[in-house]
Amino acid sequence: MADDLELRFERTVQADARIEPRDWMPDGYRKTLIRQIAQHAHSEIIGMQPEGNWISRAPSLRRKAILLAKVQDEAGHGLYLYSATETLGADREDLTLKLIEGRQKYSSIFNYPTLTFADVGVIGWLVDGAAICNQVPLCRTSYGPYARAMIRICKEESFHQRQGYELLMTMMRGTQQQRDMVQDSVNRWWWPALMMFGPPDSESTNTEQSMAWRIKRDTNDELRQKFVNMSVPQAEALGVTFPDPELRWNEERGQYDFGQPDWDEFWQVVKGGGVCNAQRIAHRRKAHEDGAWVREAAAAHAQKQAQKQAVKEGAA
Ligand code: 3HC
Repeated sequence: MADDLELRFERTVQADARIEPRDWMPDGYRKTLIRQIAQHAHSEIIGMQPEGNWISRAPSLRRKAILLAKVQDEAGHGLYLYSATETLGADREDLTLKLIEGRQKYSSIFNYPTLTFADVGVIGWLVDGAAICNQVPLCRTSYGPYARAMIRICKEESFHQRQGYELLMTMMRGTQQQRDMVQDSVNRWWWPALMMFGPPDSESTNTEQSMAWRIKRDTNDELRQKFVNMSVPQAEALGVTFPDPELRWNEERGQYDFGQPDWDEFWQVVKGGGVCNAQRIAHRRKAHEDGAWVREAAAAHAQKQAQKQAVKEGAA
């Protein structure tokens, strides 16, 4: 019996079909999906903080409205993804506590400070651009609810990237000071954006199994390369450069050669030693504590409704 279930699972994955919540799945498949989707959701929620920092200081009502819409989208992305983890039997409250207590991760990129308004544009262009690179293949991930969440999220990420690039285009047509502000922001965010794709494949503990289960459809290095290839022409059109002396077109490979991020910095940030890690978690902890009364009121209301329903059914 167990062999039949395993065989059906393998056949479904190898046929590029979807595994659905009620299907049998190996414990390891369920575990790594909860790990990856929960950390993806945490990243979306924590990711609201860096840009949220500029909502009250946006230079115009139009910029404020666009930024508000984007930050609200990120909250929605987090909720879709937490819902996807719940189809695997995870508990949202438990995942939130794991995040707050440092027992689960979120993307390193959100531990860097947003020092100028140009950062809002560069985050849209490069961070959401990297997210699109990483998330479009996830629309074909083997787990149904995750793939379907990705389709909706990727549509919104495209708006995120375009609004960022348009913001930067506007600044690049401005004063020299604005152009310098954009270049400074690109210099600060380029390497952390490359780190979003994860460590080099040689150091990736999860990639091999995730690829075999078709959770991941490309390796970390493959997606990083795709992102560099996509970003260089966009930088040229914008009139900015990337802070990488090794970046150059390799005719033979038909790809850009580029330098390696500082992986010591990457692991230091992943392990909690980044500039904003403590601030981000403290903010998330406070928001969770401040929201306790809402959760309690909603739970009490649901319980009362259930009691009323039970009485009604009992009387019927
Ligand atoms: N930040 C923090 N931790 C990272 C990381 C990063 N940038 N890259 C890798 N890690 C962690 C992994 O989680 C893993 O630790 P774990 O086993 O405890 O979870 C360890 O480093 C080794 O990395 P692996 O490559 O073996 O891990 P994965 O196979 O999970 O690959 C990943 C990492 C590419 C991020 C993959 O999990 C993934 O594709 N996740 C879905 C996309 C995602 O989470 N993106 C985060 C950004 S969300 C975002 O950008 C929102 C947008 O609106 C801006």
